[in-house]
Amino acid sequence: MTEGSPGPPGPPAGALPEPHPALRTRLCALTGVRFPVVQTGMGWVAGPRLVAATASAGGLGILASATMTLEELSAAIDDVKARTDAPFGVNLRTDAADAERRVQLLIERGVKVASFAQAPRPEMVARLREAGVVVMPTVGARRHAEKVAQWGAEAVIAQGAEGGGHTGVVPTSLLLPEVVDAVGSRVAVIGAGGFFDGRGLVAALAYGADGIAMGTRFLLTRESTVPDAVKAQYLATPVTGTVVTTSVDGAPQRVIRTPVVERLEGAGRITTLPRAVRNAVAFRRRTKTSMASLVREGLAMKEGNELTWAQVVMAANAPMMTRAALVEGRTDVGILPTGQVVGSIDELPTVAELLGRVITQANEVLDLLAPGAATRS
Ligand SMILES: Cc1cc2nc3c(=O)[nH]c(=O)nc-3n(C[C@H](O)[C@H](O)[C@H](O)COP(=O)(O)O)c2cc1C
Repeated sequence: MTEGSPGPPGPPAGALPEPHPALRTRLCALTGVRFPVVQTGMGWVAGPRLVAATASAGGLGILASATMTLEELSAAIDDVKARTDAPFGVNLRTDAADAERRVQLLIERGVKVASFAQAPRPEMVARLREAGVVVMPTVGARRHAEKVAQWGAEAVIAQGAEGGGHTGVVPTSLLLPEVVDAVGSRVAVIGAGGFFDGRGLVAALAYGADGIAMGTRFLLTRESTVPDAVKAQYLATPVTGTVVTTSVDGAPQRVIRTPVVERLEGAGRITTLPRAVRNAVAFRRRTKTSMASLVREGLAMKEGNELTWAQVVMAANAPMMTRAALVEGRTDVGILPTGQVVGSIDELPTVAELLGRVITQANEVLDLLAPGAATRS
């Protein structure tokens, strides 16, 4: 992902609020960030500009690398480092054919956090941890949290069903306390799915979590590179305007309910190779995506997974459908992954404004709940 302009510089020191002591959590201690707020690694969205803006405003920005080649990831890491000295993370796909080389790259470049969409392999966790990289997988079920904690992950992002992109079935209000009870004594737990403000941050702390992670809320900021017309479509979507579908790549994914998604749902799950190929070829024709990039993506997936060719073709096509909408603005052919929280968002602040508001509101709520309990310096 190339992102020409460096974007606005980080906010001047002192412009952001001093966090209430209750907001200085294990997440801050582990990763060195000022605020316990994570901007998650969203494919085609979380590029250097968004990540650097989050990092320089005191949050933990995570670069999405599942949609980048190794070379692009290397350049993106350099780009973030050129924009900020603050710590940041990279989101990895465990099943990528070159996952080990990506792990090595993170270690060599001194990236602070490795986040994972699925469970990382135990040896990956060990290697990263030994090198001082904080491993932070996203989990959608308690048993997954227990497994990665046992392997040595130092933090987990517990994403409830209302979250954007690939998602599970347990809502945040039930998943978060479950995960905190299961592994919270050993690892930092970060709540995700449905968060957008300071009240949510304090609610997560009340469940025993160490912070929140937000995807959709950061997608809808000024520094996000999603085209303006597409951001406007997100802003116009109500809380009931999303759907979890398996018709894009076979795994449950929350997206805006658009005519494209309704068509895919109507066609049912693609289980035969000829139908999957027909779908991919039709998509390629409409978008002019090169067949070579689809095939490359498909082969990389087949190498890391036990998939049928129909599943491979379908899954290879999925990132391209997201790219079509979120990079090229082609909502007539692409998909729009989102959390239900999209219905609670109606403006596009800068990242520094967003973090400033979240922390100010969290400070106010904490003061309201326990007046005079904390004195901020
Ligand atoms: C557009 C979009 C792309 C996403 N891509 C990824 C991804 O590549 N890897 C990943 O681990 N999670 C991905 N997710 C999930 C988010 O990182 C995050 O966990 C989720 O959005 C949190 O829920 P929220 O949207 O309610 O804040 C994506 C989400 C969205 C909305």
